[in-house]
Amino acid sequence: MYHHPLLLTPGPTPIPDRIQRVIQEPMIGHRTKEFEKVAEKAYKGLKPVFGSENDVLIFTSSGTSALEASMVNLVNPDDHVVVIVSGTFGNRFKQIAETYFNHVHVYNVTWGEAVNVNEFMDYLNSLTEDVTAVYTQYCETSTTVVHPIHELGKAIHEKYPETYFVVDGVSCVGAVDVNLKRDNIDVLVAGSQKALMLPPGLAFAAYSDRAKDRFAEVETPRFYLDFNKYIASAENNSTPFTPNVSLYKGVAAYAELVEDEGFNNVIKRHYVIRDGLRAALKALDLPLLVEDEYASPTVTAFVPPTSEEISSIKNQLLNRFNITIAGGQGKLKGKILRIGHLGTIDTADILQCVSALEVILSDLRNESYIGKGTKAYLEVIKDYV
Ligand SMILES: Cc1ncc(COP(=O)(O)O)c(C=O)c1O
Repeated sequence: MYHHPLLLTPGPTPIPDRIQRVIQEPMIGHRTKEFEKVAEKAYKGLKPVFGSENDVLIFTSSGTSALEASMVNLVNPDDHVVVIVSGTFGNRFKQIAETYFNHVHVYNVTWGEAVNVNEFMDYLNSLTEDVTAVYTQYCETSTTVVHPIHELGKAIHEKYPETYFVVDGVSCVGAVDVNLKRDNIDVLVAGSQKALMLPPGLAFAAYSDRAKDRFAEVETPRFYLDFNKYIASAENNSTPFTPNVSLYKGVAAYAELVEDEGFNNVIKRHYVIRDGLRAALKALDLPLLVEDEYASPTVTAFVPPTSEEISSIKNQLLNRFNITIAGGQGKLKGKILRIGHLGTIDTADILQCVSALEVILSDLRNESYIGKGTKAYLEVIKDYV
């Protein structure tokens, strides 16, 4: 039977028609007035989404480039940094830090759990050297945890006002309420192929005023990812190098879509879908990896009881229903499944996935699950739709 393809991975995500159309328009030169208008809309349009007073910088490269840039622009080689590692992407921050810096302190958090702010502060207090910057994920995509960024930023700022706080928001910016000033964040990075519902290929960074001053002083070598170049260009609605012109148009269209829906409604939609999906998975006897309190509004991990179920659910979703979901990463590879619900995904898309799960589980377990997940799901979302 034919089914429309449904991409439910935590990035890349489906592209809305309005964005798809503009990125297919004929090419324009990037040193033109026409492009300057596009760039201005893109830089300014992202500000409310990032909770940033400064224009948001855009790089023609994937999210990891912004992770790397957030290190080489803020930290000197002999400075001390702390990296919170709670999954695959924390490990990536650690690897980048160890590439450039001589003093990298790793604070490990059990995979599937969120950082405990008091315990983290005890750790920070136990370090004898001055720490230049603390690095963390906002949503650790590999475990689907969101860390308490607001509380963490506040605690670090109150005790160590000189320390910079850097947040990898690649898999949740665009779906969460974040504000650089309120949350004491100095650099917040994101990628295009996630909640910003663009194709892969752009990375973003928002920055505080004091971080901007710091970028100008830092001596760590960098060229393509030198924030100072991007800040200077953005002031003229330009770019230091040839940008992905088409995706800049996509960013401008994305900003319009957010304005039309209302950013608060965009956030609400993500949380409602999260809560509905979690209720459905529980009703389908598919245990959740993460406690409700720290569950991401963009991606949900569940733990089918056997490895046969793990592979059958993922394969049957794809082969019978044309629905693509993600498996686990790193130490969770082969142990969990993850459903992405970010960007343009709406309540009906997840309803479709839940009903497919009912059919698959009924076959796998010789027991009828028909109506169980969808009922639990609809009970949660009915007040919203
Ligand atoms: C939290 C997080 N950080 C960083 C990245 C890396 O982004 P990219 O693959 O675009 O380089 C990802 C990608 O999934 C991510 O989820």
